[in-house]
Amino acid sequence: MDNDIERVLYSEETIKEACQRLGHQMAHDYQDKNPIIVGVLKGAVLFMTDVIREMDILAELDFIDVSSYNGGTASSGEVKLVHDLSIDVADRDIILVEDIIDTGRTLKFMQDLLKERHAHSIKVCTLLDKPSGRVVEAKADYVGFIVPNEFVAGYGLDYGDQYRNLPYVGVLKPEIYENK
Ligand code: IMP
Ligand code: MG
Repeated sequence: MDNDIERVLYSEETIKEACQRLGHQMAHDYQDKNPIIVGVLKGAVLFMTDVIREMDILAELDFIDVSSYNGGTASSGEVKLVHDLSIDVADRDIILVEDIIDTGRTLKFMQDLLKERHAHSIKVCTLLDKPSGRVVEAKADYVGFIVPNEFVAGYGLDYGDQYRNLPYVGVLKPEIYENK
């Protein structure tokens, strides 16, 4: 896998520091609120499990799976619910944990869903934010890193459902796409 990476953008060490910074900030902000921390499958799984270990507060965990990509590097524009939450969000404080915000469509879809279900508050924690990709308005409250307009993979982020298990985030070599 390492051979398919052109360059590393965020190393394991850098990611760990971001998890500590964001986790401690959220623990401070959500003291005594018993939030529901919602991981967005599958990309946010690695980030979520690391960031929650930095939060010394009571919280519940849940997962949602929405999809907008069809395995390629460009968003299809259509978001659909693949796997729903298992906890009732009415009157609860929700922290959505994402791997990356690009067009903003996925985030908007989930925020609308949570609002419809009467969540008390909704905040967003994302490992990566790609503001140059925005198509709809979407804003994260806790951001690990602002990324340039490049397709990245690793640490949960995939290309064709591969590379999620890389322990760092990097840019794939161009020939990886060309050979597909
Ligand atoms: P959005 O709806 O365009 O904001 O897309 C968000 C989702 O698209 C994320 O949860 C990722 O799964 C995926 N995505 C966006 N950009 C990238 C990227 O550079 N690498 C891998 N996945 C990406
Ligand atoms: Mg994805």
